Amino acid sequence: MSAVSNPGNGKITVPDLLHRKFLAAGSLVDSKKITCLTAYDYPTARLLDEAGVDVILVGDSLGMVVLGYESTLPVTIEEMLHHTRAVRRGARRALVVADMPFGSFHTDTAESLRNAVRFVKEAGAEAVKVEGGERRLELIARLTEAEIPVMGHVGLTPQSVNALGGYRVQGKTPDAAEQLLRDARAVEASGAFAIVLEAVPRELAAQITRELRIPTIGIGAGPDCDGQILVIHDLLGLTFDGPPKFARQYADVGKIISKAVTDYCKDVREGSFPSDAESYHALPSLKDRKKIYIES
Ligand code: KIV
Repeated sequence: MSAVSNPGNGKITVPDLLHRKFLAAGSLVDSKKITCLTAYDYPTARLLDEAGVDVILVGDSLGMVVLGYESTLPVTIEEMLHHTRAVRRGARRALVVADMPFGSFHTDTAESLRNAVRFVKEAGAEAVKVEGGERRLELIARLTEAEIPVMGHVGLTPQSVNALGGYRVQGKTPDAAEQLLRDARAVEASGAFAIVLEAVPRELAAQITRELRIPTIGIGAGPDCDGQILVIHDLLGLTFDGPPKFARQYADVGKIISKAVTDYCKDVREGSFPSDAESYHALPSLKDRKKIYIES
């Protein structure tokens, strides 16, 4: 099946997601919530895609959950491109969105545009995500004009960890809530097709969701958003500090991996792996001639 969208082939596209919001706003039908998860490699992308996830984000959370960095700040554009290519190869139906890492869109607009183009041209991303609100107005408008769909991201933006002074819930005071509303409106006005709301009070996320014409995708923003996103490692139990308050852990894959590896080590040490059935054998006629040939 082609990953390119033809009307009716089931491929999720940017217009599909906007259309769902339009249907929800008009209450024409009980429109479906948008399901999003992060992935960073081919097998995970394939499993998510085949399970019916609508949007796969190659998040710069890559830096923390896969590469072992302490924050997302060190993640490079080359690392993001490498992982986006792998995800692209595994995803057929889902929309693939690539996160622009810290530093890749903070200098001039021309340079930021060149970087965004690389995600589409070299890695097969169908959209990019950019953190920030009002301050990104010009950039999002420029990328959109260049036919690159943009997903915005406001609230707790991990790339601003130093400016924010930590990973905290945003928009709790009336002034902060007003600023967040302005940020969300600016992201919509600049042409973004969707917006991530991270770590904001449920009531504020609900208000933004009611007000905007583009879908809101919540993470730690309550159930009233148009869609939800989680970091796949939180959902699977593959983090070392336990999931954050807003995440739900659906499986303990970390425990399954630990047990499988412990069992393997035990079997190797005891000599029970590999067994005779797990070994290749020489052909009987050749054995007689005391020569070992490897079976094909
Ligand atoms: O990098 C990421 O995974 C993200 C999501 C948590 C929205 O930005």
